[in-house]
Amino acid sequence: MKPKSKILVIAGSDSSGGAGIQADIKTITALGGYAMTAITAITSQNTLGVKSVNSISSKEIKSQILYTCKDIKPDVIKIGMLYSSNIINSVFLCLNKIKSKKIILDPVMIAKGGTKLINDSAINTLKHRLLKQALLITPNIPEAEVLTQNTISNTRDMINAAKILLDLGSKNVLIKGGHLNSKVIYDVFLNKRCLKIFKNKKIRTTNTHGTGCTLSSAIATFLSCGKPLKKSCELGIKYVNQAIKSNLSYGKGNGPINHLNSFNMKKNFK
Ligand SMILES: Nc1ncnc2c1ncn2[C@@H]1O[C@H](COP(=O)(O)OP(=O)(O)OP(=O)(O)O)[C@@H](O)[C@H]1O
Ligand SMILES: [Mg+2]
Repeated sequence: MKPKSKILVIAGSDSSGGAGIQADIKTITALGGYAMTAITAITSQNTLGVKSVNSISSKEIKSQILYTCKDIKPDVIKIGMLYSSNIINSVFLCLNKIKSKKIILDPVMIAKGGTKLINDSAINTLKHRLLKQALLITPNIPEAEVLTQNTISNTRDMINAAKILLDLGSKNVLIKGGHLNSKVIYDVFLNKRCLKIFKNKKIRTTNTHGTGCTLSSAIATFLSCGKPLKKSCELGIKYVNQAIKSNLSYGKGNGPINHLNSFNMKKNFK
């Protein structure tokens, strides 16, 4: 089997394999794409928490992106963890050189256990430089709260926050509802023409490590194969939902999801 498309992931490494670059590569591969990477940070972590975060130099990140793309042109770029303003600025310059129009930005800020994965000044740089360059931004609720400086407690607040993100220059927004305390999860997709709310029963499990990284990589892969953006979000959410349902139960804490759960792909991802 030959991969259908090529995706470049710019993100951090998760040694436990459930989130970050590892989740991205697994997702893209499981869904039939070819994954390339530019690693922005190395984290030592397991399902119980993050032990350390070591950022890679901006120069090395820039080199990974430009040297890789010079040879193999990605169909879509997915961006995850970017630790500092310096890194964001150099990724911004690289993206300007590559001129890709299909960029999915997952504005990763805090790990499930509470460790910060971005420093404070970097949040502003991300908001003012990178947000406008992305085709889609996929914040979770705490990230959408930080970016919009609004509290989010329900779906109406999510729609409001998505509108603020459009006003800030985003083209398309998907606010993920996994962090709200409710029986049903609402993921809110908004652009200037369309509002779509994806609704799913909340699966009762602690094994949701990496759902966000997995979702944005799944969306990137579907998009890279030529699916429209809203459809790619719908299929990505479905993929994550099935990956959570198969409940791997690895580790003593917040365990990973099952990225190989796409074997029924042909049947389920039309
Ligand atoms: N318990 C659950 N049951 C069903 N779907 C879930 C559950 N938790 C998260 N999801 C789905 O997973 C996707 C990612 O949402 P989430 O809010 O967990 O992102 P995130 O906080 O960025 O994840 P991460 O902590 O990995 O960065 C969304 O589509 C959300 O609906
Ligand atoms: Mg996330």
